Amino acid sequence: DKKHLVFDASVIRHQPDIPKQFIWPDEEKPCANAPDLAVPLIDLDGFLSKDPSASEEASRLVGDACQKHGFFLVVNHGVDAGLISDAHKYMDKFFGLPLSEKQRAQRKLGEHCGYASSFTGRFSSKLPWKETLSFGYSAEKSSANVVEDYFKNTMGEEFEQSGRVYQDYCEAMSRLSLGIMELLGMSLGIGRDHFREFFESNDSIMRLNYYPPCQKPDLTLGTGPHCDPTSLTILHQDQVGGLQVFVDNEWRSISPNFNAFVVNIGDTFMALSNGLYKSCLHRAVVNSRTPRKSLAFFLCPRSDKVVRPPSELVAMSCPRAYPDFTWPVLLEFTQKHYRADMNTLRAFT
Ligand code: SIN
Ligand code: FE2
Repeated sequence: DKKHLVFDASVIRHQPDIPKQFIWPDEEKPCANAPDLAVPLIDLDGFLSKDPSASEEASRLVGDACQKHGFFLVVNHGVDAGLISDAHKYMDKFFGLPLSEKQRAQRKLGEHCGYASSFTGRFSSKLPWKETLSFGYSAEKSSANVVEDYFKNTMGEEFEQSGRVYQDYCEAMSRLSLGIMELLGMSLGIGRDHFREFFESNDSIMRLNYYPPCQKPDLTLGTGPHCDPTSLTILHQDQVGGLQVFVDNEWRSISPNFNAFVVNIGDTFMALSNGLYKSCLHRAVVNSRTPRKSLAFFLCPRSDKVVRPPSELVAMSCPRAYPDFTWPVLLEFTQKHYRADMNTLRAFT
């Protein structure tokens, strides 16, 4: 099932019928007009200026959301609006190239980084209607320019400026995610430093998602249903809309808000919280009118870090929910198993 098909969106999006590989089974077809999910909109202003009561309130809201479904929005997050706009603008530059040029960054089978125009994803029974560009980011000093270098080396000098923008963007995301780790630590009653220190030297992944308009949006999905195996995802979506979360047995939308980042808990953090915080199923739908863009920063621990909840979260009444693992082991595992989930991991380890 690892066949590699070439999906040239600029061609097939104008055909009356779409290839059958993009038609999802009935039980997974998108539903029109999913109702909005009530996610808290968390103002980080007070927390970032170290106001104790505002920080307490923010951590309480984060904790509530993470126990329910693991999704929340942050505003006044301190990330420069111009940087966010530039990150969207340079996506247009890359994805607007002819397929053959994008393929200079072609992702190879079994690799995590690069351009993917079509692949049978590890979670999908069908092909996603999208193109992606993924690259690694490292918070280590010795890798200070990895993103910049990636763009220059794969796409050439013309993409030097793109590389600088995504380098800055990843640094801003890494900083923001460490702040959120403080809130998560506070909300779990183990103090603000524990998770911050664990992720300070993260080796994370950035993914640019480009969803072309689709002539049959009722039959296709932009991203199939999945849980993020990573620790924390910080997503910025444009104004088009399409992100949906499965809560209480129903698909719910998360409406666009350009001033906000959508934050969600992934499987690795679910394990770090000993199962207290949820990593929730989500997907992205497409539409027939407008291309949609989203930028996802996936916070991942350094590969040598053992993922294990702090002892305060393990008790007689609350035994270990998951075995110890390292991030590379989980990543490899999720790529081998169709719809791998944390229950399968439990059985596998
Ligand atoms: C994803 O969860 O992988 C993508 C979500 C989105 O594009 O909104
Ligand atoms: Fe996701």
